[in-house]
This record gives sequence, C-alpha cells and structure tokens, in this order.
Amino acid sequence: MLRQLTGQRLATAVEESFTELGVGQNVRATIERLLAALQNHYGPTYEHCLRVGLSSRKIAQHLNHSAHAQTLLLFSGLLHDAGKALTPLEVLECKHDWTADFQHIIKRHVKDGYRMVVPHLPMAAAILLWHHRFQPDPYPEHFPASAKRYSVKTQARIKRYGRLLALADFYDAAHRKNERNGDARVTDAAIKERMLLQNEDERPLVAALYDAGIFLG
Ligand SMILES: [Fe+2]
Ligand SMILES: [Fe+2]
Repeated sequence: MLRQLTGQRLATAVEESFTELGVGQNVRATIERLLAALQNHYGPTYEHCLRVGLSSRKIAQHLNHSAHAQTLLLFSGLLHDAGKALTPLEVLECKHDWTADFQHIIKRHVKDGYRMVVPHLPMAAAILLWHHRFQPDPYPEHFPASAKRYSVKTQARIKRYGRLLALADFYDAAHRKNERNGDARVTDAAIKERMLLQNEDERPLVAALYDAGIFLG
C-alpha cells in the first residue's frame, strides 16, 4: 500500500521504478541531488514527494501511457515540492494558526522548484508548475516565460500530466494531513468523497483509480 510506505522501503520502491523504466545513473544522481536539500530540511515533505512520484507513475501506467510518459510523471512527482527546501520550517510545520503571510510564503515553492529543476529536467519542471493549478485557489498565477517554449501539442501534454500529478498530490496530502492531525482523523471514505467532489473534472478517473487500488479508500 503506497501511502504507508516510508523511509527505506520508499527509497527502494523509487529505485525499482527507476530500474523498470531504464533510468540511467546520471539522471538518478541528478534527482537525488535535487531532493537532498529537501530531505535535509524537512523529511515528511521529502517522503511525500517520493510517494507522489510513485503514484503519479502508477496513474500513467493505469492509463496505458508509454514508458516515456511514466518516466515524466515519476520525475515530476518526485520533484514537485523540491522548492519547499526553501520554505521556512515554521511554515512547513505549522498545524494551527495558519496566516495569510504563511500562505503567501508557501506559494513560492512552485516557482522555486521550477527554477531548481529546469536546468536539469526541463519537461519535469514544466509539468510540476501545474500541480497547484487545478484547485479552488490556483497558483502560481503566471508561469515563467521559459515554460512556454514548447509546441502547442507538447504544452497540452504537459498540462495533462500536471493534472494527473495534481491528483496524486491531492491524495497523498489529504492522507498526510490526517496523520498529522492524530485524533482529528477523517476516515478514508471521507477522503475519497472529497477526492471525488473536489476533482469533479476527473471524477471517472478518480473512481477508476480507487477501483484499481491505486488510491485506497
Ligand atoms: Fe506543492
Ligand atoms: Fe505536494
């Protein structure tokens, strides 16, 4: 069960995915380097990134997407919150008293992550830009100019993969919030309900992912 994977088992699952998809040692080392700062800064978000990478790839697999598409989803999922290495711990660890200022600060992680990743893995960087764009308070409002250098067809593909990544992110974040809340846990069924309600544009896919056991509810 993906959402219960933590620590070494999680890292091993990522290694296995790299091997299955034929990812070379140089790229693996680049991704590890890009994630090292986040791992040192705040472990829970690092592990969240690994789980979102794995489940984004599983969604692509479920949709019979090519190995190339699966690789892009894996990479962009692994790196989607890399920019949170620059988010102050005070904000990342905040459970109560969330302020408008904190909200302003946390939003920076998308463009920060883009800047870190784009010199190394430009497509993954372009995909991760989308991961908060399908929610009620979408951000960032504007993408960096360099993100628009793709053909219309490729841009549509980037956006589609960003949509799939956002589903994986929503799912894992909902379960992680639950773990942090301890006694105030909501049930898996309630999370499923929220997944279906708040991702209305992707309702059939969300339902299919639960049916396939990629999402557990
Ligand atoms: Fe994020
Ligand atoms: Fe995330």
